[in-house]
Amino acid sequence: MSSENQHHGQSAPDAGPHPAGQTPGSQSSPAAGDAWHTVSGQSERTFVVSAGRPHEPNSPVNPPVDFTSTYTYRPSVEQPQVYAREGIPSFGPLEELIAGLEGGTRSAYFGSGMVAKDQEQPVEVQPALLFSSGLSAISAVLNLLPLGSHVILPKHSYMGFFTMAQQMAEKGMITLHRVDIAETEQVRTTLQDVSTLAQAQEAEVLLWIESPTNPMLEVADLPALTAEARRRSILTAVDNTFATPLRQRPLKHGTDIVVHSVTKFLSGHSDVIMGAAVTSDAELHRRLHAHRNLHGTIPGPMEVFLALRGVRTLAIRLDAAEKNAGQLAHRLEALAAEGTVPLRSVSYPGLSSHPQHERASAQLGGYGAIITIDTGSMQAADAVLENLRLWTPATSLGGVESLAERRRRHPGEPETVPEGLIRLSVGIEDAGDLFDDLLGALRTAAEILRENR
Ligand SMILES: Cc1ncc(COP(=O)(O)O)c(C=O)c1O
Repeated sequence: MSSENQHHGQSAPDAGPHPAGQTPGSQSSPAAGDAWHTVSGQSERTFVVSAGRPHEPNSPVNPPVDFTSTYTYRPSVEQPQVYAREGIPSFGPLEELIAGLEGGTRSAYFGSGMVAKDQEQPVEVQPALLFSSGLSAISAVLNLLPLGSHVILPKHSYMGFFTMAQQMAEKGMITLHRVDIAETEQVRTTLQDVSTLAQAQEAEVLLWIESPTNPMLEVADLPALTAEARRRSILTAVDNTFATPLRQRPLKHGTDIVVHSVTKFLSGHSDVIMGAAVTSDAELHRRLHAHRNLHGTIPGPMEVFLALRGVRTLAIRLDAAEKNAGQLAHRLEALAAEGTVPLRSVSYPGLSSHPQHERASAQLGGYGAIITIDTGSMQAADAVLENLRLWTPATSLGGVESLAERRRRHPGEPETVPEGLIRLSVGIEDAGDLFDDLLGALRTAAEILRENR
């Protein structure tokens, strides 16, 4: 078995993470437990603000960012920094911050993976790797796989990931096995079948998890699936973009690699495209770094500056957006029950009607800021989007501003996503204003649909 399948012997997962002082915006509380700590021993609310700041006398309060492609050398002096494609010191604060939040460490695993303040043993962060986009981080992970590997993936997942995996499969590089990631028994059976097949072929297997999934918001049993995959020496990767490390920490459950679209919640202002990968496995880290260097998928210094500035407010932004999302989801569900507007159903992990509500409550530190509504048809959805005034119809998510998009406008989105489904990325505006705007657009859409009948 190659190095990426050698695990650290993590212990069984414990209860889900629980952000300090968090009040989720819906009826039942998410995972209870002690406030978690980052690898620094600080609460993540402190850590996002304090990590990576220079402390020497007369140093700037914010770490400096180098705008340079290359570094001076003298043949007589050892040169740690040669060329910016290898990564530059200015990536450091953000790479350490993201790894610190996710629990990416260089040292052995500590039971729960979280480090209590009184823990004596120092823990060294293994910095995340920043990428030019979320998709380039995903590409680096898929490129770890030797030819002939098997990939088990959710039938609903971020469209770009699926398209990339599909193209690799069409070239005969990998074989795909699609599963309903929320159906634990189905995934277990697939893990077993594929692992038997792969053993016979001496092939590698990757389990790719997205949870909650984009855009269907299915919630996977992360601890159970990761444990099963590890038992079978299957490499695991989790796209943690929707939950963020403040609500879910897959490394703690034994996941090998976590990827992020930093573009979304982490940077939080819809002004940056960036990705990140985090792992506690030194060899995986080395290979992902080598891939990034050879493919040139590094972010620019300006993006690094903006993303670091954005992540400083992650904790308060996420709290505010999640509170709004909880309120909106409940109000929208009540509106759907009235039957007066084109609103068939509302999906949000914080609603008791969500099929994995219990699992989300046990596993996630909060239900997130993404809601989907099914308007019943493309016509209805488009009429709603045409008539929004406060919400911005746009793709993407995780910014301070609220965005709405009909997902099936993208040909790559599978047909199992309803034609009339609108994904709502809830921002930090006033929840009442957001609801009123949606209500107005839904009412106008109802009139348009009546006139066109
Ligand atoms: C869950 C998820 N992962 C990855 C990506 C890709 O990220 P990026 O747009 O930064 O390449 C996206 C983008 O929408 C996403 O939603």
